[in-house]
Amino acid sequence: MQPALLLLIPALIALLPPVLPSDTEPGLPAPSNVCVDSYNMKHIMRWDPVEVKGDPLPVIYRVGFELYSGLRELCVNITETECDFTEKIFPFWRGRPMVRAELGLRRSEWVVLPNFQPSINTTIGPVKSLVLLSNSGKLIVEFSYPFSPIPDVLKLNYNLSYWKENSEEKKTDNLHSSMTHVLDHLESNANYCVQVYAFTHFIKGLLSDPVCETTATDITYKIVLGCIFVFVFIIGLISLFIIPDKPLHLVLSRIKNWLDGPYRIPSHVLDYLEDPPPLVQTECTQSTFEEDQYDHISIVQLDPFLDVSKETRPDHNQLGSEKT
Ligand SMILES: *[C@@H]1O[C@H](CO)[C@@H](O)[C@H](O)[C@H]1NC(C)=O
Ligand SMILES: *[C@@H]1O[C@H](CO)[C@@H](O)[C@H](O)[C@H]1NC(C)=O
Ligand SMILES: *[C@@H]1O[C@H](CO)[C@@H](O)[C@H](O)[C@H]1NC(C)=O
Repeated sequence: MQPALLLLIPALIALLPPVLPSDTEPGLPAPSNVCVDSYNMKHIMRWDPVEVKGDPLPVIYRVGFELYSGLRELCVNITETECDFTEKIFPFWRGRPMVRAELGLRRSEWVVLPNFQPSINTTIGPVKSLVLLSNSGKLIVEFSYPFSPIPDVLKLNYNLSYWKENSEEKKTDNLHSSMTHVLDHLESNANYCVQVYAFTHFIKGLLSDPVCETTATDITYKIVLGCIFVFVFIIGLISLFIIPDKPLHLVLSRIKNWLDGPYRIPSHVLDYLEDPPPLVQTECTQSTFEEDQYDHISIVQLDPFLDVSKETRPDHNQLGSEKT
């Protein structure tokens, strides 16, 4: 019995030390106003300082996170009254954050907070860079993540609220995970305002500031397009005269030459158009050499072809002669 007890005592002592000193030394007041600020998955624990008069040593603080598996130390021996533990726990961990004051051998009681789990307890801020583009009677909404990188444990969805200015009625569209959206079926020439918030299964993020934009009617859209077209056309015309060598002049003279010049149908095009039997074609080329040396032979040539093809009756004659 006694050896077993002796073995147990060190184990018991090992469990107790953090709590024991406050019994052996005169106690210290515990930190007050303890809280965890967790914004966009950045976690900071804060408290009010513990004041002790007449001691040369500064009060220091110890911050822990109590998990099922035991106590994790987040900050030790710090004189500041806050502890940034963003990098010290995982987003899916759940545990009780706690803090105590220490001075020499004196320790305060632990101040223990309720369970904290980053993926549940963090505040998600408003989405960033929310813009509205007015396009042909519709409004195109675009925005970006409230912060980044977004850890895998946060599956962000977005809700978009919109309303006509000076109207009480708000509509909400669930955008799921999309960060662009088109609002249609809107009144034309009306001012609409949009707010977006991110949310997860557990968290509803903060609303963005409203952004407003006026819908353009189809007609104004067309007028704007028309103006842009005319503007581009005029700029193009002017640049043609300004560019060295006056390309417009060159182009015009080329068109003029083409209009004045002899019209020639390229021979390969002619061949394609007529597509006569190969035998006839050879006769045709011979006859062009013999009959005329003009360049503009093309269209006139069509008739000789027909004649020549009639002359291919020799086959017929031959047949006849064979029969006889
Ligand atoms: C904290 O301070 C105590 C004495 O004040 C020292 O023994 C201990 O090593 C320090 N711990 C760390 C992690 O600095
Ligand atoms: C974390 O959220 C849960 C559920 O909303 C809440 O009960 C708990 O008090 C929060 N923890 C902290 C430290 O605020
Ligand atoms: C998001 O909007 C839908 C309606 O489109 C609504 O049913 C849902 O409750 C909203 N989600 C949150 C977290 O507000």
